[in-house]
Amino acid sequence: MILTREEEAMLNGELGEGVRRAMEIIVALGKIYNAEELVKVESAHISGVSYKNLGDEGLEFLEEFASMGVKTMVEATLNPAGMDMELWEELGFSREFAEKQIRIVKAYEKMGVKTTCTCTPYLVGNKPKFGQHVAWGESSAIIYANSILGARTNRESGISALASAITGRTAKYGLHLDENRLADYVIKVKCNVKGISDFGALGYLIGKMVGNKVPYITGIETADLDELKSLGASMAASGAVGLFHMENVTPEAKIKRVVKDGAEEIEIEDLREAYETLNHDVREIDVVSIGCPHASIDEIGKVANMIKGRKIKSQLWITTSRKVYDEAKRRGLLDIINEAGGKVIRDTCMVVAPIEELGFKTLATNSAKMATLAPLHSKVKVRFGSLEDCIKAAISGVWNDN
Ligand code: F3S
Repeated sequence: MILTREEEAMLNGELGEGVRRAMEIIVALGKIYNAEELVKVESAHISGVSYKNLGDEGLEFLEEFASMGVKTMVEATLNPAGMDMELWEELGFSREFAEKQIRIVKAYEKMGVKTTCTCTPYLVGNKPKFGQHVAWGESSAIIYANSILGARTNRESGISALASAITGRTAKYGLHLDENRLADYVIKVKCNVKGISDFGALGYLIGKMVGNKVPYITGIETADLDELKSLGASMAASGAVGLFHMENVTPEAKIKRVVKDGAEEIEIEDLREAYETLNHDVREIDVVSIGCPHASIDEIGKVANMIKGRKIKSQLWITTSRKVYDEAKRRGLLDIINEAGGKVIRDTCMVVAPIEELGFKTLATNSAKMATLAPLHSKVKVRFGSLEDCIKAAISGVWNDN
């Protein structure tokens, strides 16, 4: 692999032991994937934040790394933590968990990482431009950056994204290269797809079918930001998709041919299979979870409209970033949701938070990604449906099949 003089210096430890270790990770990955060179990145987004997932070993690693004095070289944002960093006590998180979680976030902060604690960095200012190279962790953010923004990132792990933040480099392979950004599959959608849950269900089916390949989707007339983020998030969760193209919607598909010769064609005629697979046989709902990926201001606005003047029976958690939370507060949406008994929660979500410790056994959501992961990570039974179905369940405390 060809390294520049500056990159050699980093690898030789001339910029300190922390930078040397970070560059060692980048170069090792480059060798594994036969990269010929490194590429400068504009930003990093770092996953691997919740103490629930990192444990003591991860915490110690981060504190040791931070104590070496390393600093990020490019803008770096942070994925959700295991709790709301301010309201953890009120929400019932244990002090033991909270103390360790705070130490993790502080270690990142010491290294210069912006402690945004959100999986939607593109909604809080870390929004790469078309064609820019970045190093992002968090599968839902990666697929959004590649597909909707037209930026270029591989599916980085927390540690490799951190190494890129510190060195400002990543190895040039995979989705950084033109030839790997062409679609292997053409997915012809032949049914109506409307709202966040339908787009999530579609993504779930596509991810299952294509695994880690690139799909090109046709047959969707319109899709808004929230629907696209839901589509990508579930595709990246049920499969390992890092990039999709959509006819007349995604930026690369608008300017050039993005389908490989001989790409396999698949038709999707209905979404029932996704809804059937992701729904468990439960009726009583302990908590309704909205905001996976983290809710935009529009999503919070829709929830506020639906529950204005009502009282909810089950718990309702809307998870979002601090920036969107502040905007929701400014618009008076928080008051409406709080008065109905719901909560807008920052910094975390129902997958990375230790919700099993909070006593939740059943969860309803409009996110196919949440419905896929919550049973595995948080040991809950799940109901998956539209936002309207979820809010009805929050108000009545039970799930009603239509
Ligand atoms: Fe974000 Fe958690 Fe969903 S990190 S994408 S809200 S599982």
